[in-house]
Amino acid sequence: MTTISPAGSKPAVTKNAAGERIYNFSAGPGCLPEAVLRQIQEDVFNIRGSGIGILEHSHRAKVYDRVLAEAFEDFRKISNLPSNYHVLFMTGGATSQNFLVPANLKPQDQTADYLTTGYWAEKSIEQAKIYGPVHEAYSSKDKMHSCIPTDAQIKYSANPAYVHMCSNNTIFGTEWHQLEGSKNTWRDRVPMTPAGVPIVCDMSSDIYSRPVDFTRYGMVYAGAQKNLGAAGTTVVVIRDDLAAKKVRELPGMLRYETFAKDESRPNTPPVFAIYVCGLVFKWILSQAEGSRHCLDVIHERNIRKAGLVYDLIDKSTFWKGCAEPNARSLMNLTFKTPSPELDEKFCKESAAAGLDGMKGHRSAGGMRASMYNAMPEAGCKALAEFMREFESKNG
Ligand SMILES: Cc1ncc(COP(=O)(O)O)c(C=O)c1O
Repeated sequence: MTTISPAGSKPAVTKNAAGERIYNFSAGPGCLPEAVLRQIQEDVFNIRGSGIGILEHSHRAKVYDRVLAEAFEDFRKISNLPSNYHVLFMTGGATSQNFLVPANLKPQDQTADYLTTGYWAEKSIEQAKIYGPVHEAYSSKDKMHSCIPTDAQIKYSANPAYVHMCSNNTIFGTEWHQLEGSKNTWRDRVPMTPAGVPIVCDMSSDIYSRPVDFTRYGMVYAGAQKNLGAAGTTVVVIRDDLAAKKVRELPGMLRYETFAKDESRPNTPPVFAIYVCGLVFKWILSQAEGSRHCLDVIHERNIRKAGLVYDLIDKSTFWKGCAEPNARSLMNLTFKTPSPELDEKFCKESAAAGLDGMKGHRSAGGMRASMYNAMPEAGCKALAEFMREFESKNG
């Protein structure tokens, strides 16, 4: 019999010390809920009793019609999205939004304002420059992107087409939070902007990690591969006046309007990635507890999860957090030991103990533990315990 297994036989499954699945702290693609993975296993062979797998159905067939319709419905349900906002499933990753946003929303002779709070925000402004003048209203580059600005630190231009921000800086581990007095409440925060100027937000690494009010934004985009599903699609939430905007001639496939009018299938869409998003949206909804909204439950859990590691960092002289405490991310926790050699040792030994993907990004160094929604609390406890042991052996 011919085999398609590269090794010709099934490899042994890598497990952690307790004989369980490896905890995947990778920044993305990140871990997915186990219930979603098990459903995918079934649906790849036979979805919804159709006798045909999800990868084989036509994108115009009834089965996919339902998958797509439910994905739209469930996404809207999670955030109670008003009807003047479109949800789009696009391709090209969050990276393609870096040129699609200015191409669709910024006239050639009008500026757009950018808040550069990390690596991905740097990429965004770079691409926008292709479409005429842009204004950097704030940059934290000289502080190694360890902070988030106050409103007073942001200097807008006179008449920007939009203000672009990135709500969570995946690489440097900072996130926009609402501050109440000096107390960090972890609520989402949008900066004060000039009246009537829409905010465009890259929410790739913290979308649906906490309650979100999309009406505070003109547009939000997020690569799916962290909190929403599988790589291959980018979710865009866009207000209808912005979706209809025409500031220059563009091919149809580069227009938000095309995707809005055509239910995100002007061509063969990334069927599988959208289907996985649909399952994750159902999982998010299933996290509601009694009268408590699913995003409140998820948010509280994320605060507990991150707290396990941040508390440890705050009580120790061995660990050093990279982000300023009032700008810390709940999703991507960045920290270091006293030396690069110990950082390397930590990454090696934690991986061997079943805590995978802890190495920081090449531009930041140190460690990064990504605790997306699907990372179980047990994984974060195991990490905190491992850090404690590592400190006692190497401190
Ligand atoms: C905040 C943020 N924006 C953009 C990107 C790029 O996303 P993609 O690889 O989907 O283009 C990433 C990827 O990690 C990210 O974390």
